[in-house]
Amino acid sequence: EKGGYDTYMLKEIYEQPQALTNTLIGRLHDETGEVNLDINLDPGSFKRISIIACGTAYYAGLVGEYLIEQLARIPVEVDVASEYRYRDPLVSENTLAIVVSQSGETIDTLEALREAKKFGAKTLGVINAKGSSMTRELDDTLYIHAGPEIGVASTKAYTSMVSAFLMLALWLGRARGTLSAEQGAELLKAARELPRLVEDALSPERVARIKEVAEKYAMARDYLFLGRGVNSPTAYEGALKLKEISYIHAEAYAAGEMKHGPIALIDEKLPVAVIATESRLLEKTISNVQEVRARAGKVILFLSDGDTENARHGDDVIYVPRAHEMVSPVVNAVAMQLLAYFTATALGKDVDKPRNLAKSVTVE
Ligand code: M6R
Repeated sequence: EKGGYDTYMLKEIYEQPQALTNTLIGRLHDETGEVNLDINLDPGSFKRISIIACGTAYYAGLVGEYLIEQLARIPVEVDVASEYRYRDPLVSENTLAIVVSQSGETIDTLEALREAKKFGAKTLGVINAKGSSMTRELDDTLYIHAGPEIGVASTKAYTSMVSAFLMLALWLGRARGTLSAEQGAELLKAARELPRLVEDALSPERVARIKEVAEKYAMARDYLFLGRGVNSPTAYEGALKLKEISYIHAEAYAAGEMKHGPIALIDEKLPVAVIATESRLLEKTISNVQEVRARAGKVILFLSDGDTENARHGDDVIYVPRAHEMVSPVVNAVAMQLLAYFTATALGKDVDKPRNLAKSVTVE
């Protein structure tokens, strides 16, 4: 049932090209450059968006915030569901509440959805599990179609959620006139390439390289993850994955925030994984890397293919397929998953059944 893989997690990591194909299929129309999501929602009928989720789904929501604000220019806030439901949120008929969940059963998210509905918000779900509790209470659901996910650590659901947000942002941007047909077509093309890029991210040479680096640092006590812009959530997700399955303490920051405190942690024993792929903020990220190295931190640098110029800034360099910045969180997440996976297996951990965790959290 694990299809020849040692673990469900690894199987699900390798299923991502197919999962992404299923997320995108039938929804992107090259001829018109439009996205068809088949959702009953008037894209002009709300003034703000609240994204609500837990854990990995919350990080997908943070990427969603970035994409929607960039492409559709609608104010977005993202909340952890357990906070949202108790914080007396400002929500009205002008709000679109988007809940994000793999299982559709997470109680905190379900209760937060009920809270939003109480105040008349329109509701949309970005959900994997068909017919799950949330889907029965939502106005509409954008299914991600990633297929069943069994590993406790979420992998393919994350990349499919992020891809769903990309389509949503594109759709909203086109419908609300903030995105030109040309920009729309360019992003649509980038989205369409995702399954192929992720396939490439999983090529044997790349996987072997990540395994090698993971094993080199598997004895570390702590880890730091840094990223910027649309890839700051990629860093958060990388740290969560590592904590969950390897039990190594990990923190993640938007790289520019490091000098406001976390830089005090850096010494020669601390591996710092930095997402420094092609981006308009790349130069800034590299200067953050220099700050880490000046304090003897060990930099694991994730660079886009062909970026030999910046390689000298890393103690260890991992190349990832070059992708359009707006879709890069999907491609880069795969490298984060593999780093966590091979760290955990090097330490002999049971990645499919991490201690203290359940696949779906149906208690508060
Ligand atoms: O089923 P959901 O997407 O609502 O689950 C939310 C979180 O519990 C979940 O993403 C959790 O953080 C994962 N174990 C992360 O790998």
